[in-house]
Amino acid sequence: MININEQLEIYLKAFEQRYTEVVQNNENIHKLEELIERYSGFVLDQQYQQAYTSWLDIKEKQRMTQQLADISAKSVKLMEELRAQRLLNGEASTSQYFENIEHCINEEFGQCKVRANDKLLLVGSGAYPMTLIQVAKEIGAEVIGIDIDDTAVDLGQRVAKTLAPEANIHISNKTVAQLEDIDTVTHIIFSSTVPIKYQILDQLYALTNNQVVISMRYGNGFKALFNYPMEETNLKKWKCVHKQLRANQIFDVAIYRKSLVKAGVRNDV
Ligand SMILES: C[S@@+](CC[C@H](N)C(=O)[O-])C[C@H]1O[C@@H](n2cnc3c(N)ncnc32)[C@H](O)[C@@H]1O
Repeated sequence: MININEQLEIYLKAFEQRYTEVVQNNENIHKLEELIERYSGFVLDQQYQQAYTSWLDIKEKQRMTQQLADISAKSVKLMEELRAQRLLNGEASTSQYFENIEHCINEEFGQCKVRANDKLLLVGSGAYPMTLIQVAKEIGAEVIGIDIDDTAVDLGQRVAKTLAPEANIHISNKTVAQLEDIDTVTHIIFSSTVPIKYQILDQLYALTNNQVVISMRYGNGFKALFNYPMEETNLKKWKCVHKQLRANQIFDVAIYRKSLVKAGVRNDV
C-alpha cells in the first residue's frame, strides 16, 4: 500500500536539501539531476498517480503540490543554467528530463504546425532554449524567446549562438507588451513552469493578431507536482480548441485560439 503523503514529504525534503547544496557548490549538480530524473519517473508512474488521486486530504494535497511544483521548477531552472554552462565550457551532457521535453516539440501544435515563414514566441525560454533552437534550425522559422531572469537570458543567447549560429533567434528580457513585433507572431508557447502564464495569456489578447495559436504547457492532478496547472480563461478572449494528454510526457499541452473574431474572419485551422 503506497503512502503518497510520505513519498511527497521525502521528495520535498530531498529537493530542498539538494537545491541548497547546488547553490552552495555547483559541483553538487549531479545529485540534483539524479533527483530530477527520479522525480520525472515518479510523476509518470501510474501507481503513484492512483494513490495521489485517492488521497482525500485536499488541504494537505494542495499544500504539498504547490510546494513541490515551486521547488521542482526552481531546480529545473538551475539545472538548465548549469547545463548551459557545461555546454559553453565544451562539456557534453544529457538527461532523461531534457530528452522528454525535447521529444515533445514536434507534436506540440498538432495541426497548426509551425512553418518556415511563421514567427514563434516562447515565454520562459530559460538558459537552455532547446525549443527555440529546434524550431529555428529544423523549420527555419524566426523565433523569439523572453525570460524574466537575466542569467537565463544571457546563457540562452550564448547557447543559441553556439548550437545554431546561423539561425534567426532573438532572446531578451522584454515583456510581451515590450515586443515591437508581437502582432506578427503566429505561434506562442508557454513554458509549463511560468507561474503567471495565464495572466500573460490574458494580456496577449489585445496585443496579438486574430490567427495566433497558443500552446500552453501545463500539468493537472498528479502532474501538477511538476508543472503549473491549467486555469480558466475569459471565454470571450481565449478558448481551448484542443488538449493533448500525454501519458509518457512530463507536461500536457492545451491549444488556445481567440474566441471571437470579427464576423467573416475564421479562427479555425
Ligand atoms: C526553466 S525554463 C523552462 C522549463 C521547462 N522546459 C518548461 O517547459 O517549463 C522556465 C523559465 O521561465 C522563466 N520565467 C518564469 N516566470 C516568467 C515570466 N513571468 N516571464 C518570463 N519568463 C518567466 C524562468 O526564469 C525560467 O528560466
